[in-house]
Amino acid sequence: MLTTPTKGAFLQKLGAMNPAAFSEQEEAEMLAAVEEIRELKRQKNAVILSHFYMPAELQVKHEDGGIADFVGDSLGLSAAAKNVEADNIIFCGVKFMAETAKILNPAKQVLLPSFDAGCSLAESITGADVRQLKAQYPGVPVVAYINTYAETKAEADICCTSRNALDIARSLGCDKLIFLPDLFMGRNLQTKIKAETGKELILWEGKCEVHEQFTPQRINGLKLMYPEAQVLVHWEVPDNTVADALTGAGGVVGSTSDIIRFVGESQNRQFILGSECDLGATLRGMYPEKEFIVPCIKCPHMKRITIQNTLEALRAIGTEKESLFQIRLEKEIMKRALAPIERMLAFS
Ligand code: 13P
Ligand code: SF4
Repeated sequence: MLTTPTKGAFLQKLGAMNPAAFSEQEEAEMLAAVEEIRELKRQKNAVILSHFYMPAELQVKHEDGGIADFVGDSLGLSAAAKNVEADNIIFCGVKFMAETAKILNPAKQVLLPSFDAGCSLAESITGADVRQLKAQYPGVPVVAYINTYAETKAEADICCTSRNALDIARSLGCDKLIFLPDLFMGRNLQTKIKAETGKELILWEGKCEVHEQFTPQRINGLKLMYPEAQVLVHWEVPDNTVADALTGAGGVVGSTSDIIRFVGESQNRQFILGSECDLGATLRGMYPEKEFIVPCIKCPHMKRITIQNTLEALRAIGTEKESLFQIRLEKEIMKRALAPIERMLAFS
């Protein structure tokens, strides 16, 4: 049974992150699941890693009465996964993130609550596509965004996340590099890099189906309604949005962590968020005194993960259902994908 203070702490945190009221029945079901998950984590020696795009109830930390042992962006989650000592990692994120966790900590069992949690970027490119690019541009280094599957990473020289892409691209001693698969992020990086170093990026045509929806019209319409607000946009939004997003009250274009840090350091009170809807919940939880205007565009892949299937994954550990949730990768692919991921982590 969840104790009254634990239940109170969870509901208070959840209320700050997600003011939408739950019905009495939904709340009772959620509290029952939270209670069982907390107990099963202990019994089955498991930890839960949760991305900032998860629904708010999956982002509340264990110490606040919730279920998450670590909440972070894709880089933070990779570093956390590498250091997990528990036998089982339940990954509340999408498949490419859970694969990265498995590659970094292969002795642990990594469980993904739903294998429908894909990603339009990861699905836009295969290992064979990268081999073809390498044949077309011999000797040009390949930087693979972490939003790729293991067989794609296995062909890359180095991986990056939105947090360290710029530093990695700057650091490579070459006048050209292949950046894949995000076209818009590549163009946004290119604008910075070319001005600084003259370096040219060869790009792929992948797009994030969430961030591509933050068109200039959408952001400019909100700026007219909230002229004092600063604008927070992820690297993955279209380059023509970035071109004028920061004109006016200012703001930031960057990674999820850059966005969080910028809000913390800004004296402004109001912000327009050009990123996934539930990052709005994260920001409300962290900065309750600030106001966030969030056009709520949800990643359908991230939302495949729920408190109920997280509970099912935990219940399955040690039963014949375990394999339904297990991340399994070929040894050879894991070995080849590890090198570019490790090179990336050296930049963190
Ligand atoms: P982060 O690297 O900022 O966590 O972003 C992950 C992602 O899926 C962006 O759409
Ligand atoms: Fe992929 Fe975009 Fe969803 Fe991130 S938000 S997981 S990039 S589809």
